[in-house]
Amino acid sequence: MTSTRSVDTPEFPVARPDSCPFDPDSAFTRLRAEEPVSPVRCPAGMDAWLVSRYEDIRAVLADPRLSSRAASSQHMVPGYDFERSPNPGQIIQLDGEEHSRLRRMLIGEFTVRRMEALRPYIQRITDEHIDAMVAKPEADLVADFALPIPSLVICEMLGVPYADRAAFQDDSVLLLDTETDWETRGAAWQRTCDYIGGLVRQRQAEPRDDLLSRLIARGEETDRPLAMEELVTLGGTLLIAGHETTANMIALSTVALLENPAQLAALQASPEAAVEELMRYLTVIQFGLLRQATEDVTVGGSTVKAGEWLVAAIQSGNRDGEVYADPDTVDLGRQARTHLGFGFGAHQCLGQQLARIELQVALTTLLRRAPGLRLVEPLPLSEFKSSAIIYGLRTLPVTW
Ligand code: HEM
Repeated sequence: MTSTRSVDTPEFPVARPDSCPFDPDSAFTRLRAEEPVSPVRCPAGMDAWLVSRYEDIRAVLADPRLSSRAASSQHMVPGYDFERSPNPGQIIQLDGEEHSRLRRMLIGEFTVRRMEALRPYIQRITDEHIDAMVAKPEADLVADFALPIPSLVICEMLGVPYADRAAFQDDSVLLLDTETDWETRGAAWQRTCDYIGGLVRQRQAEPRDDLLSRLIARGEETDRPLAMEELVTLGGTLLIAGHETTANMIALSTVALLENPAQLAALQASPEAAVEELMRYLTVIQFGLLRQATEDVTVGGSTVKAGEWLVAAIQSGNRDGEVYADPDTVDLGRQARTHLGFGFGAHQCLGQQLARIELQVALTTLLRRAPGLRLVEPLPLSEFKSSAIIYGLRTLPVTW
C-alpha cells in the first residue's frame, strides 16, 4: 500500500454518529461483515490495510513480522516522517530484542502486587478530591477529578514532583492532538524531555525510592546501561501515557454511566467487570494501532506485502458481534476481559493494572459519594476530543 495509490481508496473512517458519541464510525459494521481487511487512505498521507475483525486484530498484534516502528497512532498525524528511526528508549516503537530489553527493565515496576500496594494511596487522593469537589456547587470533572488523580499517581511512582505539573500536563495534550502542528509538537516534546532530563540527572546524583532511580540502577546492573536519551524518552513516555489515557477514561466513563443509570448497580456490585466493559465499549485509543509488514504476510485471508502498512482497528474489534453479543450496548455485567482496549501481544499496555485500579476506585467512589451527580447542561459534541489520539472530554461541568 505504499506505491500503488488509487484515487478511489476510501478515507480512514473517523466519523462518530451524532446519535452516540461513544460509537465508532458506522463504516466499521460494514467492513467487518464484507471487507475485514480493506484499503484506506490515512490522514498522514499513506495508504494502509484496515483490519477490522477481532480475531484478525489479535493475530496482527501478536505477529512479530509486523513492526511497531512508527508510533501506534501516527497514521492519523499529517506530515509524520515515516522514514525517521524511533528515538532510543521509545518502547512503543521498538521491535524484537530492542523492545524486550526495555520491557524487562520496566515490567517489575507494574506487577499486580506493586499496583495493588498503591490502591490505598489512590483511594485517599480520590476521597480528598471528592471532598473538595462536593464542597462546591459545581465542578469541572476533568480538571477537578479525572486529570489530577492519575497525574498524581504517575508522579508518585516516577518520583516527579506533582507541583511541577504545569511543566507536562499541557504539553501532553498538545502531543496527543493529531491537529497540533509539527513545530508546536517538537517544542512540547523538547520541554517534556528537558524537564525529565533534569530529574534524571538529580536521581543519578542522589537516588531515591522511585521508578526513575530504580530504572537507572537496573540498567547499570546489565552489560548495556540505559543511556541518558533512553532514560529521558522512557520517563517522558510513562509520564504522558500514565495520566492522559486514564484521565480521559475516567471522564468519558462517567458520562457513559450517567447516560446509562440502570448500570450503576452493576458498577458497585463488580467494579472489576464493569471497568473491563467500559474499556471495551469506549476504546479511548480511538484510531487503532499502526504496524508495518517486514515480510509478506497473510492477514484474514489477504496478502499484505513487505513494507505495507496495517492498522489494527481495536475500536472496531471491540464492537465485533462475533465475539460480543449486542456489541453496541454497554452491559457492565458482561465478561469483557478479553477486550482489545489495552492492545494485545508484545506491546500490550504496561500500565494496565494501574489503570484498572485507578478506574475502579475513581468511578465507584465518585458515584457512591455523589449519587446525585449530573451534567450541568447537555454536553455539546464540541467538548468531545474527536481529533485526539486518546478520545475523551475537554471539560465536563457537573453538579450533584
Ligand atoms: C485506560 C488507560 C490506558 C489505555 C487505554 C492504554 C492503552 C494502551 C495501548 C492500546 C497500548 C498498546 C500500543 C501498541 O500496541 O502499539 C499501550 C501501551 C503502553 N502503555 Fe498504556 N494505556 C493506558 C494506561 C497506561 C498507564 C497508566 C501507563 C503507565 C503508567 C501506560 C503505559 C504504557 C506503556 C509504557 C506502553 C508501551 C508498552 C510496550 O511498548 O511494550 N498505559 N497502552
